[in-house]
Amino acid sequence: MPTADGELAIETRGLRKTYRSVRGRRVGVEGLDLQVPVGGVHGFLGPNGSGKTTTIRMLLGLVRPDRGTASIFGHDVPRHLPDVVGRVGAIVESPKFFPAFSARANLRLLADGIGAPRERVDAVIDQVGLSGRAKDRYRTYSLGMKQRLAIAATLLKDPDLLIFDEPTNGLDPAGIHEIRRTMRGLGDQGKTVLVSSHILAEVEQIADTVSIVARGRLVASGSVAELIGGQGGPAVRVGLAADDVAIATSLLTSRGLVVRREDDALLVDGADAATVNRMLGEQGVWAGELTVRRADLESVFLGLTQHEVPGGRDHRGGRRRRKEEARDTTSGAGAASGPGAAVASTTMGEDA
Ligand SMILES: Nc1ncnc2c1ncn2[C@@H]1O[C@H](COP(=O)(O)OP(=O)(O)O)[C@@H](O)[C@H]1O
Ligand SMILES: [Mg+2]
Repeated sequence: MPTADGELAIETRGLRKTYRSVRGRRVGVEGLDLQVPVGGVHGFLGPNGSGKTTTIRMLLGLVRPDRGTASIFGHDVPRHLPDVVGRVGAIVESPKFFPAFSARANLRLLADGIGAPRERVDAVIDQVGLSGRAKDRYRTYSLGMKQRLAIAATLLKDPDLLIFDEPTNGLDPAGIHEIRRTMRGLGDQGKTVLVSSHILAEVEQIADTVSIVARGRLVASGSVAELIGGQGGPAVRVGLAADDVAIATSLLTSRGLVVRREDDALLVDGADAATVNRMLGEQGVWAGELTVRRADLESVFLGLTQHEVPGGRDHRGGRRRRKEEARDTTSGAGAASGPGAAVASTTMGEDA
């Protein structure tokens, strides 16, 4: 969805990446067309193994696509990544900090490394809500705080686009909440945040728009409201005495409503609770329970991706996969070698 002036933060066309494996070629991403509008939070959703990390690595020049094109703010990547990398902050896998240093000391080192002004350090610590703990050693931090510090590091050069690959992995509910709030806050400040996840519920509440991928292909995209709307809107669940179920069904269907049976209750599609209640009451049928049930993205997501076996392909050949991964990373076009890429490389973790 382009903005008014048509600018997209990220666009890919026909992006494809296969990996060589002992069993032949394995598809990482298969002809992916992705459009991420400027501003706000964009959820990049798909089951494990659906190609999210591969896509992000291609955008950052860490993996070379076999085919297709990708651009960030209109600059072709990886070719023109150096022109735009200063506007991009990313966390791919877990970043590394010095355990015995405080948050502030860690960030000062990074800021010096990328030539960001030191005033930025306190600003970004504040932005992720770590001011109260800025002087404490990194190793005393909770996982959620560690991840927020990683986000702070990506903010040092005040990027316009933030790319977070499964930033809530391994966090407890409180940590997930912290990261969500931080990402939502960045979106509200006008940044573009691309956040990948295999758990829909983790991004559903904070995403303005989403792209859903399965087996390396885009299967749906749009605003959360549009995707849910495509599912037919809310339904009303009507709990009834067993004797009343048949009569209520014929009553409501005769008034043009679509009714489904669910246990001892009826699910009425696309009507509001008051209407249903009145229709039944007028005929002397009284509902014992009325609940509005919104269609949620979860059902859209499951419907689109249910043929996936989560992580299925990753269970075998773990050692071999790591080897292939190492080979691929070194052959990447190298976001880390472009000018201003220091934040990206320091926060991109072990194998960047
Ligand atoms: N370095 C690699 N070598 C071989 N296969 C890989 C490599 N990276 C990813 N894959 C495969 O590509 C597919 C997509 O993986 P990935 O991009 O990591 O998905 P996601 O991030 O959505 O879980 C999976 O089948 C995965 O096993
Ligand atoms: Mg991944």
